[in-house]
Amino acid sequence: MTAPRAPLRVLVIGAGGQVSLSLMERAPLQGAVVEALGLPELDFTHPAGIGPAVEAAARRLDADVLINAAAYTAVDKAEDEPETARLLNAAAPAELAAAAAQLHRPLLHISTDYVYGGRGTAPWTERDIPFPLNIYGDSKLLGDLAVQDIWPDSAILRTSWVYSPFGNNFVNTMLRLGGERSQLSVVNDQVGSPTSALDLADALLSVGRALVERPHDYRLRGVFHACGAGTTSWAGFARAVFAGSAARGGPAAGVIDIATADYPTRALRPLNSRLDTGKLAARHGLTLPPWQGSLSVVLDRLLNEPRDAMKIPDNSVSDSRPAGSAGAEAGRQRPRRPTATLTRPVPGQSTPEPAAPRPRGKVNGGSP
Ligand SMILES: NC(=O)c1ccc[n+]([C@@H]2O[C@H](COP(=O)([O-])OP(=O)(O)OC[C@H]3O[C@@H](n4cnc5c(N)ncnc54)[C@H](OP(=O)(O)O)[C@@H]3O)[C@@H](O)[C@H]2O)c1
Repeated sequence: MTAPRAPLRVLVIGAGGQVSLSLMERAPLQGAVVEALGLPELDFTHPAGIGPAVEAAARRLDADVLINAAAYTAVDKAEDEPETARLLNAAAPAELAAAAAQLHRPLLHISTDYVYGGRGTAPWTERDIPFPLNIYGDSKLLGDLAVQDIWPDSAILRTSWVYSPFGNNFVNTMLRLGGERSQLSVVNDQVGSPTSALDLADALLSVGRALVERPHDYRLRGVFHACGAGTTSWAGFARAVFAGSAARGGPAAGVIDIATADYPTRALRPLNSRLDTGKLAARHGLTLPPWQGSLSVVLDRLLNEPRDAMKIPDNSVSDSRPAGSAGAEAGRQRPRRPTATLTRPVPGQSTPEPAAPRPRGKVNGGSP
């Protein structure tokens, strides 16, 4: 008889983002206990406070593993705020890695397809040399390098085009615009893989468990690609959203293909965001589901239970121990928008900067 597995105790850094909320929702289903630590208790703009706050929360939870889901994710805005982007995406993860090292706990960190240069059509592998085209991608790459350098007991999951039932993202934005317009122009020459934050959360929890259960297996550590199976363009993604929405009686608009060159944005975006996920499959036995099926799950939530978009899972702490302040708060409130992405939907962003309308109604994808 196999002994029941002990619950994995996970400290999530970042409380109200898409991935943080998805982790909180999925953790109980994956046999994990999770607590989220976020603003204002943990502020990435003050790196000196990160170590003490994380170490205190990890000890309180008796955390087995730390997952960093916090980041500066405003791709275009980062061009004008490079110091802030680097503070949140590089200096803060470095402090987190140092705290994880101090605690002797594995750290999972999330990164992005935007570290790659976007040339060609072949999927990027983890061995390819990064060549970020924009400040956001550059800041994320610096974070990846710092985490690996400071704490080898870490795994970095690079993902792409994240959407979820929570907060602002490309899917939500399409549904909103579909209710306002009959036609939208969307870029069709950026190709990548839409990734449900719920699927990514499952993958993170599974990788976290593997790191805890097989501490001497170095093959489980390092950089991995983790995104929805299959690829499409932003225009293809938009069409799938509208087809799924129409089938559920929701809003839909016609999609007109346009080229990235016809829709300049502040930050350059890679045309080729295809990620080879073979390493995650080979070493962790994980393949995320095809993006179309996962989109259906999220559309069901958004259209059949529209209040989901406003709902916080009430399981940020799923055992009887006292919740950390951020965890307890998350159980009560609607997610706060990250300060970095709060105010305006910037033209053509996907998540967490939602694809935003310009007066002409053109949409350039471009996830963080
Ligand atoms: N979204 C995408 O399309 C995409 C694509 C590739 C990779 N990624 C990566 O995936 C990860 C999660 O992204 P996401 O989509 O979940 O982002 P998100 O929804 O924008 O959430 C960002 C998180 O960062 C936190 N945060 C922002 N400023 C902070 C600060 N000063 N101090 C502490 N926390 C702060 C937010 O906390 P509050 O909610 O408390 O404000 C929130 O939890 C990030 O590493 C991102 O780079 C995302």
